[in-house]
Amino acid sequence: MSNSTKPLAGLRSDLRDGVLHIAIDNQARLNAFTAAMWNELPMLIRAAEANDGVRVIVLKGAGDKAFSAGADISEFEQNRTAASASAYDHSNNVAFETLAKSSKPTIAMINGFCLGGGLEVALCCDLRMASSVSQFSVPAAKLGIGYNPRWMRPMLGVVSAARAKELLFTGRRFSASEAAGMGLVNQVVQPHELEAKTTALAAEIAGNAPLSILAAKRCVDAIAENPGISDLAHLDALVDACFASADYVEGRRAFMEKRKPTFRGK
Ligand code: COA
Repeated sequence: MSNSTKPLAGLRSDLRDGVLHIAIDNQARLNAFTAAMWNELPMLIRAAEANDGVRVIVLKGAGDKAFSAGADISEFEQNRTAASASAYDHSNNVAFETLAKSSKPTIAMINGFCLGGGLEVALCCDLRMASSVSQFSVPAAKLGIGYNPRWMRPMLGVVSAARAKELLFTGRRFSASEAAGMGLVNQVVQPHELEAKTTALAAEIAGNAPLSILAAKRCVDAIAENPGISDLAHLDALVDACFASADYVEGRRAFMEKRKPTFRGK
């Protein structure tokens, strides 16, 4: 495809049934993230946070070859050398952090290559669904890139220190079954089932009480990051908000009336 007809790389978003689908779309480069796309991601996440209609966010790769092959290496000469490298890393950090700290539950739907910054995006999601043909790697050591310490947190929240070192030291590509074995993904399914199973998982979560999910997310993340955390006041407040909510009234009522509850996140 010539440059003139190549579609612009970017993130495409689409809200359906309470689920915001974000497609990483740079198919000519296996959905590598351009600098513009790193900036676009936190903007989309922030917009989703402000929208009560978004119950779940699903991130996926456009096409069928890759979730994302990481950062767009073709831009590095121009924007990731010497002084510009720290500015580039900063925009990466903002993207990863905004995603990881999103108040909405997030799912990475992974099909094909999931590498480098693409894997980090997946690790910043709460859950990871992968097709059996997916491949995972952190090739930083193959490129001479220093992996930012801030990016270790999501990785170590998902895999053990020994597995993180194996990923980082070797830069090797791991299969979906190897990834499942190290807890890197929640579930591996056949490629033809990935979309339906991810949609079903997203719908299941979207039907539950948003305040309960938010409290659970914040509690799990805070305690996973600091198991010895002693000041639980901000987490208690999130749990209190659930008990004080109209959704708790609705949840109890729906149970007694033997019907499906309709939650509003209030
Ligand atoms: N940045 C920019 N372009 C990329 C890219 C990346 N991260 N990953 C793939 N591409 C481009 C390739 O350069 C190629 O472009 P071309 O058709 O203009 O030559 C196209 O995507 C297809 O990739 P190709 O290498 O031909 O496919 P493959 O199936 O032979 O190999 C990979 C796939 C993923 C193994 C290989 O592309 C690769 O190693 N990519 C780099 C991954 C990486 O190091 N990511 C971390 C970045 S920090």
